Amino acid sequence: MKIAVLGTGMVGRTIGGRLVGLGYQVMMGSRTADNEKATAWKAEHGAMASHGTFSNAAAFGEIIFNCTKGMHTLEILELAGRQNLSGKILVDVTNPLDFTKGFPPTLTVCNDNSLGEQIQTAFPEIRVVKTLNTMTCSLMVDPNLIHKGEHHVFMCGNDDSAKKDVSKILMEFGWKTDNILDLGDITNSRGTEMFLPLWVRLMPVVGSTVFQIQLVK
Ligand SMILES: NC(=O)c1ccc[n+]([C@@H]2O[C@H](COP(=O)([O-])OP(=O)(O)OC[C@H]3O[C@@H](n4cnc5c(N)ncnc54)[C@H](OP(=O)(O)O)[C@@H]3O)[C@@H](O)[C@H]2O)c1
Repeated sequence: MKIAVLGTGMVGRTIGGRLVGLGYQVMMGSRTADNEKATAWKAEHGAMASHGTFSNAAAFGEIIFNCTKGMHTLEILELAGRQNLSGKILVDVTNPLDFTKGFPPTLTVCNDNSLGEQIQTAFPEIRVVKTLNTMTCSLMVDPNLIHKGEHHVFMCGNDDSAKKDVSKILMEFGWKTDNILDLGDITNSRGTEMFLPLWVRLMPVVGSTVFQIQLVK
């Protein structure tokens, strides 16, 4: 299967590398076809990896991972092209973080809306599945790095079959079925995105980015 990864940051490179390792053909998208980080990522990952513009990648992928800067995601998806995204699953790992006033960042959208919903509203033809945004990217693709993988990942979206397909990829990453919590429709992005103000405050207390949520009853 061909997968697009929109975004050349740490998250896009980490998810893209893991997907190549699992045997997927992966194209990384950027504003520019010759992006330096994408070129280096391709050199590291070989023939199954390629890169191009956001539009090239979106046209290539059967499933799209959205690993773009939250403040610019909507304009990036316009660059990717509606016709290239239509009908496809968009795995949205973004957070609407605004660092313009320094640390800790604020959220550009919250309470009665979320970036996941803004994407779904602006692009009704995309099957948006919000997931993985509540943890650092090394854990997204390898939950067994800590606590024997016994911690939780949230998922939400309006399309049940899209969530099923995304769950299969999460399981390939190492997530156990019982640890993938389907919160329901895309409005539940409000909850997972609003965890970020706590996450950024936990980070200096924990002294690491590699920590996670484990739900206990
Ligand atoms: N870091 C983590 O572990 C982590 C964990 C959970 C969620 N997230 C979320 O994952 C997403 C990706 O994070 P990241 O740190 O890997 O990358 P990032 O720096 O947030 O985003 C990188 C991508 O955004 C594009 N971009 C940056 N500024 C832009 C602008 N002004 N206009 C248009 N495009 C712009 C870049 O395009 P070019 O390729 O053209 O430069 C690049 O592809 C974010 O939404 C973040 O909140 C991150």
